Amino acid sequence: MSRRVGVLTSGGDAPGMNAAIRTVVRAAIHYNMEPMAIYRGYHGLIRGEIEPLTSRSVSGIIQRGGTILKSARSEEFKTPEGRQKAVDMLKKHGIESLIVIGGDGSLTGALELDKLGIRVVGIPATIDNDIACTDYSIGFDTAVNTVMEAVNKIRDTASSHERVYVVEVMGRHSGYIALYSGLAGGADVIIIPEVPYDVEKVCEHIKHANQQGKTYNIIMVAEGASHGGLEDFGGSPSIAIARYIQENTGYDTRITILGHIQRGGAPTMRDRLLASRLAYHAVELVYQGRSRRMVGEVDHVVKSWDLEFALAQEKQINLDYYHLSNILSSI
Ligand code: F6P
Repeated sequence: MSRRVGVLTSGGDAPGMNAAIRTVVRAAIHYNMEPMAIYRGYHGLIRGEIEPLTSRSVSGIIQRGGTILKSARSEEFKTPEGRQKAVDMLKKHGIESLIVIGGDGSLTGALELDKLGIRVVGIPATIDNDIACTDYSIGFDTAVNTVMEAVNKIRDTASSHERVYVVEVMGRHSGYIALYSGLAGGADVIIIPEVPYDVEKVCEHIKHANQQGKTYNIIMVAEGASHGGLEDFGGSPSIAIARYIQENTGYDTRITILGHIQRGGAPTMRDRLLASRLAYHAVELVYQGRSRRMVGEVDHVVKSWDLEFALAQEKQINLDYYHLSNILSSI
């Protein structure tokens, strides 16, 4: 019997997960292994939602957002009993190795399974791009392009009405989406968790911009940004910032929370290529009998890292992007 390799997606979905699943399945067959689908992440694993996959099971999915394997968050898996059930289920189905596609919570779950004797390889996929040891995670590029298109549209109405727009984007602990889409979308101010801000200075920046002849402004805010002392203004940081700007500048201000549209849509070329390359390397590692690895792409080279090491590193944001945006928006 050929070796069985399981694949699951877990946590928040990310465009490009399907491209990764497609490659895992076809590369596994290429290496004479049997790919097994595990549906609904660790939740489905505990319940035995497992079936074989064929090359045709993954036809026509490379361009689709979401994940054909579904995703879920599992409270039970966080308990030792739940994890033991997961291991028993894998053994019952003869699955020796598992490929986990997801964000930091999902990869941390994979590490727990490694400690219980299952061979695991992680593939970083999260629009937040908050995983170290890879320049980009699957889904980030598509999410940023989605935000950029939305900002283009917001610009149209912002310029017609000569308003300030506060745009809130995803990123629970990370400012990557706000930073990249802010620079690419020409935002006046970018507010991210990694950099402290002073809302007074934000107001001054807006007034200065208007003195320079600008008639509207875009302020990008990551959902994980701090309240910056604006707790009394209520709501999320972006709502509080918008209220403060309206009250303190007198400029007509609106807020747009882009929300889950950032998680959907057809993956970009970059995400499809990243997903395909990372997933292929993940299968190579499984074929070699390796475990506790995470694949990543650094400086365009696909590599793998010890999973525990990778998860212990803090992803650094490139502040050059932040400074460049500040220069461009202040002139
Ligand atoms: O996938 C990451 C993420 O998009 C975060 O940026 C966001 O805070 C979170 O997921 C929302 O997740 P959900 O609404 O699915 O629980």
